[in-house]
This record gives sequence, C-alpha cells and structure tokens, in this order.
Amino acid sequence: LSVVVLISGAGSNLRALLEATAGADFPARIVAVGTDRDAAGLAHAEAFGVPTFAVSWSNFPDRAAWGAALLEQIEEWNPGLVILSGFMRLLPPDVVAALSPRLINTHPAFLPEFPGAHGVRDALASGAALTGASIIVVDDGVDSGPVIAQERVPIVAGDTEDSLHDRIKLVERRLLVQAVLDIARGVIDLKEFA
Ligand code: GRF
Repeated sequence: LSVVVLISGAGSNLRALLEATAGADFPARIVAVGTDRDAAGLAHAEAFGVPTFAVSWSNFPDRAAWGAALLEQIEEWNPGLVILSGFMRLLPPDVVAALSPRLINTHPAFLPEFPGAHGVRDALASGAALTGASIIVVDDGVDSGPVIAQERVPIVAGDTEDSLHDRIKLVERRLLVQAVLDIARGVIDLKEFA
C-alpha cells in the first residue's frame, strides 16, 4: 500500500509512521510527504529518505487553486492512502471528492466531541475527565467523517494543553499505525465509506 502523508507542523505522528512502516515486512510504504508550508516535520521524511513536496498556501490566489496544485502533487504518487497528520488546512470539496475514500485524518479528541483546530484546548477547558484520539475518513465537513478508530485518553489534574496533547499523541500514533495496517490488510475496507 503506497501512502502519502500531509503535515503542517512538527510531524511527530509522521515520525512514528515512518518508523513503523520502515520494516521490510510492513505492508505499507510512505512514498512521499507533503505540506502546505515550511513544516518542521519535513525533516523526519528527509531523515528516512522519503521524498517531500510543499504546496505553500501563500503561493496561490485562493483555496481552489491551492487545492488543485496539492491534488496534482499527491496524484503523482498514485497513493492507495492519503493521511492528514497534523495538516492544518481544510481541503476544497473537489479535492476531498477526488481522494475519497482513501483519505483519512487523525484528530486529538474523541469525535464527535471537540472537532476543529483547538480540540485539545477545548477538551481541557470543558472540565471533562476524558477526551480521546480519533482516526476518521475525511468528508466535506470539519472532522465530521466516519470514525474508523478511536480511544479514550484521560485528562489529569494539572494538565496543560501541551501535557494533554502529548498524552493524546501517544494514542494517536498507535491508532494511526494500526489503521494503516488494517487498511493495507483489508481488515478495514475504505470503499465501505465511499
Ligand atoms: C496531532 O495531534 C494532530 O491530530 C493534530 O495536530 C497534531 C499534530 O502533531 N491535528 P504533529 O505535527 O504530528 O506533531
């Protein structure tokens, strides 16, 4: 299974995926890593010799043009799966339509709780005792697609957004690697979500 991963930030989840898929017997390969900006996480791809591409938001007049250029870069790798891992841009509907259902996203909350760009902060502010991590198939909404894997993560007294996010990321990485395995082995059939 050829996988393209899109990031916007530190790429710590990407690093976990690179480590997990590096094994010769792992049934998936990360063939390229893309970003919408000069993401620090590209360094992880370079360290593993994985090609990278950047389609910088600021280089395009609008979302549609940016999305078309991003889709063109992604399709060059003909991936069986595209993973949004800390990718902080909404894809235009035509890009989602072109990639669906082989497009998944990881979100640091127990969806449908706390969708959006501040899920960790919102969960902490809510006073809830539990939040979570979720892997979804991307649809046209914001973190609204069908959940393919999720797990509860405790919120601990004294947690900061960073300490909670770090605890969530440990779970996200495990769910991500397992989801890639399940998709590669046909345990999860994404066509069910088309
Ligand atoms: C992850 O928790 C992801 O779910 C969220 O942003 C974080 C990205 O972290 N959208 P990293 O870039 O993988 O370190």
